[in-house]
Amino acid sequence: MRPPSRRPAATALGILAVAVTAIGTARPAGVAHALAADPPAAAPARAPRLLSETGLYGPDGGVDPRNLPFSPQYPLWTDGAAKSRWIRLPEGSSIDVSDVDAWRFPVGTKLWKEFRFAGRRVETRMIWKAGPDEWVFATYVWAEDGSDATLAPDDGVPDVVEVAPGKRHSIPGVEDCATCHRSSPAVVLGFNALQLSDDRDPLAPHAEPLPPGAATLSSLVASHRLEPSRPDLVANPPRIRASDPTERAALGYLSANCGGCHNASGPLARLGLVLLHDAGGSPDAPEPAVATAVDSAGRYVVPGLPEGASRVVAAGDPARSALLHRMRSRRPSSQMPPLGTRVVDEEAVELLSRWIARRDAPAAR
Ligand code: HEC
Ligand code: HEC
Repeated sequence: MRPPSRRPAATALGILAVAVTAIGTARPAGVAHALAADPPAAAPARAPRLLSETGLYGPDGGVDPRNLPFSPQYPLWTDGAAKSRWIRLPEGSSIDVSDVDAWRFPVGTKLWKEFRFAGRRVETRMIWKAGPDEWVFATYVWAEDGSDATLAPDDGVPDVVEVAPGKRHSIPGVEDCATCHRSSPAVVLGFNALQLSDDRDPLAPHAEPLPPGAATLSSLVASHRLEPSRPDLVANPPRIRASDPTERAALGYLSANCGGCHNASGPLARLGLVLLHDAGGSPDAPEPAVATAVDSAGRYVVPGLPEGASRVVAAGDPARSALLHRMRSRRPSSQMPPLGTRVVDEEAVELLSRWIARRDAPAAR
């Protein structure tokens, strides 16, 4: 028997799990009868047992050339893992980008992300759009000898590799995938207008160089993969609206690492904390993160502060900023993000502290 996975029993996760389940629930019971005459639904698609059977690799063992590499300009922090990503779009298909903040992928699209720790491949995650509303999440655990990777059990695999003294990376379960990937307007989080913009942020923490032949907005427009075509996304590439380079990098980090959950349309919308960038937003509007976090009281209170002093982001005062406090924490009840990481992202904490410290405190009211 496998030991129970060491999941944070965080209130944060509990709340989100309830909310995500509510979204994922099929129709209310009564509706099922009304639809009884419909043909029975097809069996849900299943991920193959071996990574080598998913289409990532070609017959020669190398990555199939039909899979395009890509690298989001603001990567997700996963305890220092090095990552590679690929996408396969069905031949001749295009992505419906009529809502620039919620790209709709053609049925059959697959995306993969490989995770390496200390140079060794540990897991490769896959997202597969198997039907018009059907997404399959899967992750494959690499054999020590690197020969192939095997589908992980639905609950994930705890503690597969040490990432810092006494801290080990766990392979997330499929519910964890959905918690991050099904809480925002788009299921795919790193292949979108901001992340593929040709105007890449040179200060983005942990940014990776673009792999040769990588998909970017300009390559997608040139190869007619976007529908409608949107050459304006190349002429006027999406970027974070910011007053200086530090703010740009800080808000880009928050959009990618936090905005999947903290956005205006997912289960956490009621918190009113919107960290997700809106590529379709007005160029003159403040970033949603500035509008909703700076000097907002929030619900969570930084421990030890006088009553009423805590803010989500307290301009000019990192010590009173709950957002920073929670990024620095790895206690299950307060850490942010609440899952997927055991090691604090020190580089990001430093960047966010610098951004907060430099922001002018609001004029006395
Ligand atoms: C903590 C939140 C989180 C969890 C948990 C998570 N992901 Fe992701 N994932 C992201 C973010 C954010 C990105 C985009 C940024 C990046 O790739 O660095 C991403 C990217 C990906 C990609 C590349 C395509 C894309 O959406 O950009 C794949 C494939 C993927 N994840 C699969 C999975 C699977 C499968 C699981 C569960 C086994 C999982 N992820 C769990 C947040 C998460
Ligand atoms: C997997 C989803 C998820 C991700 C990703 C995530 N959060 Fe959260 N966050 C939550 C949930 C759920 C809550 C509400 C419960 C709580 O406060 O613990 C929350 C609450 C918060 C709060 C308190 C808001 C208030 O009203 O006081 C802050 C601040 C916060 N998160 C910051 C962040 C930051 C910064 C990141 C990225 C570094 C992040 N979160 C990433 C799920 C997430």
